[in-house]
Amino acid sequence: MTIHKRPFGTTPEGAVADLYLLAAASDFKAAITNYGGILVSLWAPDRNGKTADIVLGFDDVSGYAAKHPYFGAIVGRYGNRIAGGQFTLDGKMYSLAQNDGPNHLHGGVRGFDKALWTAEPLIRDDAVGLKLTHTSPNGDEGYPGNLSCTVTYWLTNTKTLEIEYTAVTDAPTPVNLTNHSYFNLKGHNGGDILTHELTLFADRFTPVDETLIPTGELRPVEGTPFDFRTAAAIGARINTEEEQLVRGKGYDHNFVLDADAKGRFVQAARVREPQTGRVLEVYTTEPGVQFYCGNFLDGSNVGKGGAVYNHRNGFCLETQHFPDSPNQATFPSTVLRPGQMHHTQTHFRFLTD
Ligand code: BGC
Repeated sequence: MTIHKRPFGTTPEGAVADLYLLAAASDFKAAITNYGGILVSLWAPDRNGKTADIVLGFDDVSGYAAKHPYFGAIVGRYGNRIAGGQFTLDGKMYSLAQNDGPNHLHGGVRGFDKALWTAEPLIRDDAVGLKLTHTSPNGDEGYPGNLSCTVTYWLTNTKTLEIEYTAVTDAPTPVNLTNHSYFNLKGHNGGDILTHELTLFADRFTPVDETLIPTGELRPVEGTPFDFRTAAAIGARINTEEEQLVRGKGYDHNFVLDADAKGRFVQAARVREPQTGRVLEVYTTEPGVQFYCGNFLDGSNVGKGGAVYNHRNGFCLETQHFPDSPNQATFPSTVLRPGQMHHTQTHFRFLTD
């Protein structure tokens, strides 16, 4: 197991970003940059032992510094949407950037995906890791309190990518940290993901309004195209004329894993790609997972090795608290207060069929 560092380019602010190459096994490696805490590459084997890079991304920091749909990034302070870019906390109203139609998305104009994190390589018996730290100052993107965050990636020799998030604050603030990797188990340049077979261990999802804000309902998936409790191809029902699929332009919804938010590890998803036999299992302590299947990808992002990322060429499983929780009293709370520790964990486990 090894970890090496190399320069990854200069940020628009003139700082040098680094790329860390983590090898947990000859057929299980990752590249992570301290810019945005971004997972740039992840190599995993197919059923014949052939490895491929299975996450979408760019060749150097310039792609990530420009506008892009959060490829591989750590998203914060608040992953997903906050209605109208506003919330009230302890009687005080806070205004955030409206960077997604009328709503706030993924932490604002300059979210954690654009921060240069401090990186520290780690090693343990069964894994290589990278500890990333970042302090978001009071008032950052409109959020209250100085928020000190740590995100630790571990790549294990049993082919699991573990991500652990912690944060502490000196004033109450909403926090919802996630990783926004786009997977394609055929390879990042493997075309559309519609034949990937998905299982989602969720019997409810949070339906949305026209601007993708949850209505507050936890709707049973039973009898809808959102029922992935038994494996189904992502593309099998995606073009059904159903209000929620029309609003999301496909799947772009939060699924309910644990409405009581007990912080237990549960399996969120399993994805199998039939051609290569690659399998991804997702486990998390989070109460929800946003299943987004790259509906907004349109070929305008040219990524690693010149790969063009077209419509639905990648899918995301963003483990998270529910969207718009700061405005939805019935959803599990995302408020972190001084003296408390925000702590969540997500594991992406890679196998073959
Ligand atoms: C959102 C999508 C959005 C994508 C990229 C996902 O988390 O749900 O609506 O297009 O991120 O920003």
